[in-house]
Amino acid sequence: MTKENLLTGDRPTGKLHIGHYIGSLQSRVALQHDYNSFIMIADQQALTDNARNPEKIRNSLIEVALDYLSVGIDPTNANIFVQSQVPELNELTMHYLNIVTVSRLQRNPTVKSEIKEKNFNQSIPAGFLIYPVSQAADITAFKASIVPVGDDQLPMIEQTNEIVRSFNHIYQKDVLVEAKALLPDKEARRLPGIDGKAKMSKSLGNAIYLSDSADVVQKKVMSMYTDPNHIRIEDPGNVEDNTVFTYLDAFCKDKNVLAEMKSHYERGGLGDVKVKRYLNEILQAELEPIRLKRLTYEQNIDYVYDVLKNGSHNARQIAAQTLDEVRDAIGINFFK
Ligand code: TRP
Repeated sequence: MTKENLLTGDRPTGKLHIGHYIGSLQSRVALQHDYNSFIMIADQQALTDNARNPEKIRNSLIEVALDYLSVGIDPTNANIFVQSQVPELNELTMHYLNIVTVSRLQRNPTVKSEIKEKNFNQSIPAGFLIYPVSQAADITAFKASIVPVGDDQLPMIEQTNEIVRSFNHIYQKDVLVEAKALLPDKEARRLPGIDGKAKMSKSLGNAIYLSDSADVVQKKVMSMYTDPNHIRIEDPGNVEDNTVFTYLDAFCKDKNVLAEMKSHYERGGLGDVKVKRYLNEILQAELEPIRLKRLTYEQNIDYVYDVLKNGSHNARQIAAQTLDEVRDAIGINFFK
């Protein structure tokens, strides 16, 4: 049986954190043998709101590549590639833009909230507004049937599938393929930052990075937000809205131990420090092998660039094939 294609990616605007790991990196690693995997570093998408900071994107590119390799994405199974090195994606974007309305773009909920977050006001870069269409090009170029992403990306997949249906309908040919989002488990969705407030982000300084040293991870865990009313150890505590328990829900595999801890905490008599130490143990065990792997790749950056180059070469061939079919369908392959 031929394998179906999987495509996903991340914008390189910084290092990846444990929210990315639990939310999507792990499932990419798990699925890499079952699908033809294309894992994209979306540098062009990152540039849509960073035109004046290309060096930030450039520097993050290698960090994200290191993160991918260290968590176990195996470049002999998966193609790790760089979006900007596959120019066919841009032409696909141009063709799709003609079948998407400006008002549809303005309604995309993720884009809408990002526009607010980034304070663009009236100065929204046009490239930013249309990035869902370029994302549709990313997904359809590989005829990906599955896209493992966080739930903030659902509107992108929805818009992609609208484009697929319009395109196939307008040109009366089943060229493009609809994709399905693969969402993380409930526990892994929206892992908050260590402050318990917003999702993890660099600007808020509330993220635990895959590349953080053991000391840094420990410090971050010990400073986590818990139940502000749980003052003395014997006080009954609240495990809801308690970041340490939210993290344990996501990372602790021994659900019996966790259930027991929760009821002890709720009864009173279990201190925050103990719970945090337990979480620290679990996180360190998960992150230590990743850290070690990263170290070996860091010492061999040429190899990492080779991986990206080969992945981009392979990705380009697939994207060129789809672009050719798209041009055929529109009827603009004049010199073929
Ligand atoms: N939008 C994704 C992010 O914010 C990155 C991305 C670009 C992507 N193209 C994609 C994800 C295609 C999945 C599929 O990180």
